[in-house]
Amino acid sequence: MTLGQVSIEGVGKKFRLYKERNQSLKSAMLRGRVSVHDDFWAIRDVSFDVPAGSTFGLIGSNGSGKSTLLKCLARILTPDEGQIKPEGKVAALLEVGSGFHPELTGRENIFLNGSILGMSQKQIKGKLDEIIDFSGVEAFIDQPVKNYSSGMYVRLGFSVAINVEPDILVVDEVLAVGDAEFQEKCADKFAEFHENGKTVILVSHSMGAVQEMCDHVAWLQDGALVMTGAAEPVIEAYLSSLHPSE
Ligand SMILES: Nc1ncnc2c1ncn2[C@@H]1O[C@H](COP(=O)(O)OP(=O)(O)OP(=O)(O)O)[C@@H](O)[C@H]1O
Ligand SMILES: [Mg+2]
Repeated sequence: MTLGQVSIEGVGKKFRLYKERNQSLKSAMLRGRVSVHDDFWAIRDVSFDVPAGSTFGLIGSNGSGKSTLLKCLARILTPDEGQIKPEGKVAALLEVGSGFHPELTGRENIFLNGSILGMSQKQIKGKLDEIIDFSGVEAFIDQPVKNYSSGMYVRLGFSVAINVEPDILVVDEVLAVGDAEFQEKCADKFAEFHENGKTVILVSHSMGAVQEMCDHVAWLQDGALVMTGAAEPVIEAYLSSLHPSE
């Protein structure tokens, strides 16, 4: 295994879907059990390798399991089957605001989020100016983040994630809420990561962005891997599956 590589082997994650709506305590007692549920596999039997140093795109329709897979990779969820082995330090930017406490200020959240991502207080202090500067939210850094716009949240979250110096940077769709200037800054950051041999894994619905940034792509559909490999043929196959008549 090489630093920055991720191996995904037979990964499955199931959720419980409850059948009864309007569950009341009384109806549960009368039935003599709490609830009835079905297991729903959000992803199953997914295996592929993310090569070290690649910029790797994860594509597929809404609900295909991309975020679930990223959460398993970031250890926010535990797979029910199989395993994911990232070689090196992972920093993830998932949903807008994840890892942030709404009542704390931007500055306090940098310390909170940085320590969740494995930085010491001293390391965070050393990086503080750079993080605030890259985020572009310095005017609001001492305001509680509950008053931030979605774009401001994401700017700060991304700024912390890239400054913890991960070997593997994992980014879900979130960057799309940033403005054009910030998206350009992010694209430059990904290129810089790539030049330094770091691995970037990103989810996007913008095939243009994936085409531009990614060298490898995996396509998920209904929780299963359809195709993986060099970016272009996978993107092409995905796009033509959306327009089967053409
Ligand atoms: N906590 C949960 N409980 C129940 N079902 C869930 C949970 N999280 C995800 N799912 C289901 O798992 C499936 C995959 O969801 P996921 O968020 O991974 O999709 P996605 O590919 O990221 O979609 P999108 O492009 O819309 O972001 C969906 O059917 C979703 O409803
Ligand atoms: Mg998602």
